Amino acid sequence: MRLLTFSAVLCALSVSLFSDEHDTPFTLADLPYPAEALEPVIDQKTMEIHHGRHHQAYVNNLNAAVEDHPSLAEMSLKDIQRHISQFDTAVRNNGGGHYNHTLFWTLMAPVGAGGSPSPALLAQIEEDFGSLEAMQQAFQQAGASQFGSGWAWLIWNGEQLQVTATANQDNPLMDVIPEDEQGYPLLANDVWEHAYYLSYQNQRGAYLEAWWQVVNWEVVNQRFAAITDATAASDED
Ligand SMILES: [Fe+2]
Repeated sequence: MRLLTFSAVLCALSVSLFSDEHDTPFTLADLPYPAEALEPVIDQKTMEIHHGRHHQAYVNNLNAAVEDHPSLAEMSLKDIQRHISQFDTAVRNNGGGHYNHTLFWTLMAPVGAGGSPSPALLAQIEEDFGSLEAMQQAFQQAGASQFGSGWAWLIWNGEQLQVTATANQDNPLMDVIPEDEQGYPLLANDVWEHAYYLSYQNQRGAYLEAWWQVVNWEVVNQRFAAITDATAASDED
């Protein structure tokens, strides 16, 4: 029942906090800040390689997949995730990679510039986790215990906040994810080694802990407000 509700919410959600429209081919947007802006938490070289090579490769490979799947060109990036079971592994990996990274860049800001959780978000975090610190610990644990490559997430599942992790370039919007781990992403951290290895080497836990310094809470707050407003509107239907 919850998932039916959440599905309705996703369909009702018209607010897009990063551009979900695209021309064919798919394109790589510029970072919303200079590559050195997140230092010392994330170094310039990591950002340049991560955005300019890794994310660009996902975009290039997704465009190559459009030749085999022409319907992709007519779909929003979010809708591709929601219907990912209809496509092959190349679309799952590269479509997921493009969506995840496009979101990820928006969720960060220079140290001291990202604000803090809004009163509404903080109240929900405290209701669902007990405290902000407890949520952060759960999030770090999800990222640290994800074997191999993947992502840590804070999602809104239609009723409450939830911390999850996904492998590779999967994300909580995908219809191939276990139903009790699907939801709308509010916060995401990339735990692939390419995200942190130059500065942190194999210390993924240190990266996860330092990363809070560059979280853009203003964007997380906007995403939470948009999805919970949509939930409320759906409940009134
Ligand atoms: Fe990445």
